[in-house]
Amino acid sequence: MKLPRTYYNNITYLGTIIAAIAWITLIIFIFQIYVFRINNVYFDLYTFIVTPAFLVIGHILIPLGMIRKRRKIKKGIVDNDSKLLVLNLRDPKTRNAVMIFSVVSIFFVITTIIGSYKAFHYTESVEFCGKLCHKVMNPEYTAYQNSPHAKVKCAECHVGEGADFYVKSKMSGLRQVYKYALGTYIRPIATPIENLRPARETCEKCHWPQKFYTNALRKEKYYLADSANTEWNITLNMKIGANHQAMGLTEGIHWHINPDINIEYKSSPKRDVIYWIKKTDKKTGVETIYKDNEVDMKNVDLKKSEARSMDCMDCHNRPSHEYRSPSKYVNELMAANNKISTIPWFKSAAMEALKINYGTSDSASMEIKNKIINFYKESYPDFYKKYNSQIITAISEVKRVFALNTFPEMKVNYSVYPRHIGHLESNGCFRCHNDKFKSPSGKVISKDCNLCHTIVAQGKTGDIKYTGINATLEFSHPVDIGDAWKESNCMDCHSQLY
Ligand code: HEC
Ligand code: HEC
Ligand code: HEC
Ligand code: HEC
Ligand code: HEC
Ligand code: HEC
Repeated sequence: MKLPRTYYNNITYLGTIIAAIAWITLIIFIFQIYVFRINNVYFDLYTFIVTPAFLVIGHILIPLGMIRKRRKIKKGIVDNDSKLLVLNLRDPKTRNAVMIFSVVSIFFVITTIIGSYKAFHYTESVEFCGKLCHKVMNPEYTAYQNSPHAKVKCAECHVGEGADFYVKSKMSGLRQVYKYALGTYIRPIATPIENLRPARETCEKCHWPQKFYTNALRKEKYYLADSANTEWNITLNMKIGANHQAMGLTEGIHWHINPDINIEYKSSPKRDVIYWIKKTDKKTGVETIYKDNEVDMKNVDLKKSEARSMDCMDCHNRPSHEYRSPSKYVNELMAANNKISTIPWFKSAAMEALKINYGTSDSASMEIKNKIINFYKESYPDFYKKYNSQIITAISEVKRVFALNTFPEMKVNYSVYPRHIGHLESNGCFRCHNDKFKSPSGKVISKDCNLCHTIVAQGKTGDIKYTGINATLEFSHPVDIGDAWKESNCMDCHSQLY
């Protein structure tokens, strides 16, 4: 077989070998994917990105060498007829050269492919995502380790399966590394994440809607900011699913993810204010549109804004990075430790120290200590003496739980990333369920306290009122605020308390 003269040069040989190995590897890989049905993001990557890259390099080197050779021939540097590829394998020198050349090339291609495999694998690890740029990811990584998903890899929610999302996320990752290097990233990191992979392809790999939950009891304990840190209890029967497992998703909270229903909404970019809601019954095709005439829509063009279909993330938006409010994490701390809950005024003292926005973790650590000590020294010097060692231990515990939930350097705290489940400190469910969204036929999206849960028990420890599991108590607010809890949303007060 004769090839053009220009073919015979070292660069072109190298290109030919790389291209040949890449072609063979590619065919073997594709064969494995389609015949053995290997379904693995790394294997896909290897097959559809790394190997083709070698293929491209090989196919670029071949003409490159030929062009160079032609120039040399034209300039007369090399003889027109010289250096035809003559491989005389009887000649030991040629034989050795060919051997070394082939072994080195094969070794080079294989190590590069394995190396890039390892490198890609590493970029998917929790270590890489959570620790490498520690300064930026510290809030997410810390909250993650403290979450029910601490054993689920970052990439399982943020990347998911398949090579396409992998490449997308690596491209945006590169942009982020660049911003990190220049220090121009936004603090706090902006949410909602626009192109977060849909829940169907992440959450639903582990929790699928057809795996139903029924009701669940939720027992809460709160400590009021008074001298006794009065303990207040509420037990809610959460109507997560239908009354009977067999009824599936026909009613209850998870009704929103019934595959026969689609709920769409249009909202402000942060998704905290909702303007328009559409419910579609996919079986009957009936559509219902709900509008709230009181919501401020001055600068909103509904026609232009895109509707979002509700999925898991519209309620569970903090499945693995929940930043708790001071009131919540101090309540939890006190519930877990009665040496702290028995210090008079401690809830109040801690809240005074924690309601301030600190600039750095170091100043927070110092100031929390000073503020709590001063609170006692100034107002309750006797208690300060009597409970001194308990107070000192309690302060270090408060600092510890503060650091799990608040990250001054990244400007992260509970109010920056509101949690959409519930309605106490942000509107959450009340964004839609506020008795104001009406359909043309006058149907409202209800704020009835018994729609989503019933109250099975409530009251001060020692004086708790109970009712049966199928009945409900009327809510009584832990401190007397009259009917204010009926007339305004809980967050109107609770987001400002501390
Ligand atoms: C169980 C799924 C899940 C896991 C595991 C997970 N995340 Fe997230 N992450 C989310 C969701 C959901 C959001 C919120 C998206 C939104 O509000 O748009 C989010 C938001 C973020 C944000 C935006 C800022 C913020 O705090 O909301 C960053 C950064 C982030 N995650 C990094 C990580 C890192 C690093 C890891 C691993 C250490 C990780 N995530 C693990 C689901 C997850
Ligand atoms: C790789 C599997 C996996 C993925 C992906 C995953 N989860 Fe989970 N999830 C778990 C496991 C495991 C638990 C812990 C179960 C337990 O402790 O009973 C859990 C627990 C939960 C809980 C209960 C939390 C609690 O406090 O008890 C919720 C809610 C939840 N996941 C929502 C989500 C959402 C929303 C997503 C998508 C953003 C998601 N999960 C993605 C595996 C996963
Ligand atoms: C984007 C708007 C929206 C949000 C946010 C929202 N819902 Fe709904 N919800 C609806 C609509 C619309 C209906 C149907 C109302 C109807 O048909 O009367 C509904 C119905 C319900 C129902 C009654 C289902 C049934 O028929 O049994 C429950 C329970 C419920 N929601 C709980 C919640 C909870 C809990 C949250 C917060 C975690 C929440 N919703 C957040 C829009 C929303
Ligand atoms: C309308 C809001 C809403 C949507 C949408 C939603 N959930 Fe939930 N989910 C809830 C509420 C509220 C609870 C009960 C939380 C509690 O008790 O604090 C819950 C509980 C759970 C639990 C814990 C169950 C248990 O017994 O503790 C899991 C797991 C869960 N949801 C997964 C999902 C997944 C996966 C999706 C998407 C397919 C989803 N949810 C969609 C509101 C929602
Ligand atoms: C649309 C559904 C829905 C409606 C309506 C609703 N709630 Fe809730 N409520 C929830 C959910 C979901 C939670 C659980 C929050 C969580 O998991 O942190 C909750 C939690 C609570 C809690 C515990 C607070 C906390 O976060 O510790 C109280 C108390 C409460 N609700 C009272 C009420 C009262 C009173 C009303 C009537 C004005 C009401 N709820 C109406 C869904 C609802
Ligand atoms: C008019 C203002 C106001 C409104 C509205 C309001 N609250 Fe409160 N709430 C308070 C005050 C003040 C406290 C006492 C805080 C303390 O002692 O630390 C409190 C305490 C609580 C506590 C104990 C708090 C803790 O973290 O220790 C719960 C639970 C609670 N409220 C639930 C609700 C719910 C649910 C709603 C809405 C249905 C609501 N509140 C509406 C003012 C309000």
